[in-house]
Amino acid sequence: MMKLLFAFFASSCFILLSVANNIDVKNTQIWGPALRSEARLPVRYFYVQAYDKKNKIIKNDLGDDAFKFTLGSPSGARVRAWVTLLNRHNGSYIGRFRMYDYSGDITISVTHKGNHVAQSPYTIKDVYGDECDCPLNNRKQWMKALECPSSYKQIEEDFKNRETIDLTTLKEKVLARYGKHHSLCHYVVKDNEVYRECHGSITDFKMFMDTPMLNLARKVKLPDVEFFINLGDWPLVKSPDDPLPIVSWCGSDNTYDIILPTYDITNSVLEMLGRVSLDIFSVQSNTGPKWKNKIEKGFFRGRDSRRERLNLAGMSQENPELLDAKITNYFFFRKEEEKYGKVKSISFFDFFQYKYQINVDGTVAAYRFPYLMAGDALVMKQDSEYYEHFYREMKPDVHYIPLKRDLSDVTEKIKWAKKNDQKAQEIQRAGTDLARRILTPAQILCYHVAFFEQYSRRQNQPVTVLSSMEKLDQPNKNCNCRKKKRKSNKTKDEL
Ligand SMILES: *[C@@H]1O[C@H](CO)[C@@H](O)[C@H](O)[C@H]1NC(C)=O
Ligand SMILES: *[C@@H]1O[C@H](CO)[C@@H](O)[C@H](O)[C@H]1NC(C)=O
Repeated sequence: MMKLLFAFFASSCFILLSVANNIDVKNTQIWGPALRSEARLPVRYFYVQAYDKKNKIIKNDLGDDAFKFTLGSPSGARVRAWVTLLNRHNGSYIGRFRMYDYSGDITISVTHKGNHVAQSPYTIKDVYGDECDCPLNNRKQWMKALECPSSYKQIEEDFKNRETIDLTTLKEKVLARYGKHHSLCHYVVKDNEVYRECHGSITDFKMFMDTPMLNLARKVKLPDVEFFINLGDWPLVKSPDDPLPIVSWCGSDNTYDIILPTYDITNSVLEMLGRVSLDIFSVQSNTGPKWKNKIEKGFFRGRDSRRERLNLAGMSQENPELLDAKITNYFFFRKEEEKYGKVKSISFFDFFQYKYQINVDGTVAAYRFPYLMAGDALVMKQDSEYYEHFYREMKPDVHYIPLKRDLSDVTEKIKWAKKNDQKAQEIQRAGTDLARRILTPAQILCYHVAFFEQYSRRQNQPVTVLSSMEKLDQPNKNCNCRKKKRKSNKTKDEL
């Protein structure tokens, strides 16, 4: 037995080593926004794709230690930063870092066995920590550095019937129509300063808009805008005639709100390598076993926020060989706890032990959908009137498997996927690739700025700050912004 085990380990070591030896440091590619100074982001990131000596792409897992990523500065000054290199287990990696109390030039080094990879070390000029209030004045340059797309389907849709945004009557109309029963915050951006006034009884969620507004204003100079955001779950704008330009985090088929990325995904961009651990990158490194080793069942965990979730748990009780769907918390249907049972919640990353992920709405759209899509399981999505900012980019049966609203076809769809494993994996790959491309931190922030641009263009008068508004303060960090340092000499950056 010992001998057998030894032989097994020895041979698997050998395989790993021989693969690692095939990495060619010059053929290997490194790219991404972290290599561009103007791509100001809360957390900067880049990608590494391993290539071998014959310049062929390496697709197998090279282990966590194949590459080493370090951050420094040309002057040798210490850069205080949280630095990680995520292994995507397919020959590719994501390097990312959050800097603290640092502004200046940095060097990014990526090495393999002590040798620099691609054009490493990279020197990047004028890089600022997340808290530095050093916005890039040239918005076009920022958008180019982040590779923002020229348009977004959802933004086009949302502004289709909004040629003019009438600021003269905005506040009056919004408060008259929605002020009584809803919590809304009124924001103004003027000369890149953020002001706000909230209306309604429950306004704790204002922090989910304050934080991104201030963060964006530190990265790039925003256009002057005045808008209202709805802090509640449900979209508000019912009438297509004179639809008020209210911003919400979730849209629905019979409302006309303007949609921004949900506070959940935006917050995960801003707090990445900080207060949140689940984000669009971390999920790519924590996808459990490979496709062929995943448990061939539909999986769901969540609270009881919708009847269909209970129904799904019921179907799971009847079809345990196809479904593992359970409720982790009761609030809305407490009386039914006994019937459907309750289990402890598990780490999101452990969801990917299972091949098929069932996405069921909560009170509105389930905000886990982006992370499910970015993992490497096949997502089965309940048909829903609710949508987030990116749903228009995704197609049923191309990027995910659609399920009926009442979920009555879930067992049938799981059986289909089990029988058609190759096709199922194709859909999974297409969905995963798309999600990983369109839900990057850059894309989430681009979307906000694209929204501001579209909105500001339509305002019918200059934006004014109301005396009742509160000015939101930026953290007072001592950063050497390039602009301040070289005031007398305009750099390209400022033109
Ligand atoms: C690894 O995964 C990423 C993210 O989905 C993908 O873009 C890349 O093409 C994959 N690499 C290989 C070699 O399959
Ligand atoms: C601006 O900087 C350039 C390059 O450092 C220098 O040649 C030029 O004289 C400066 N101009 C002013 C007005 O200081």
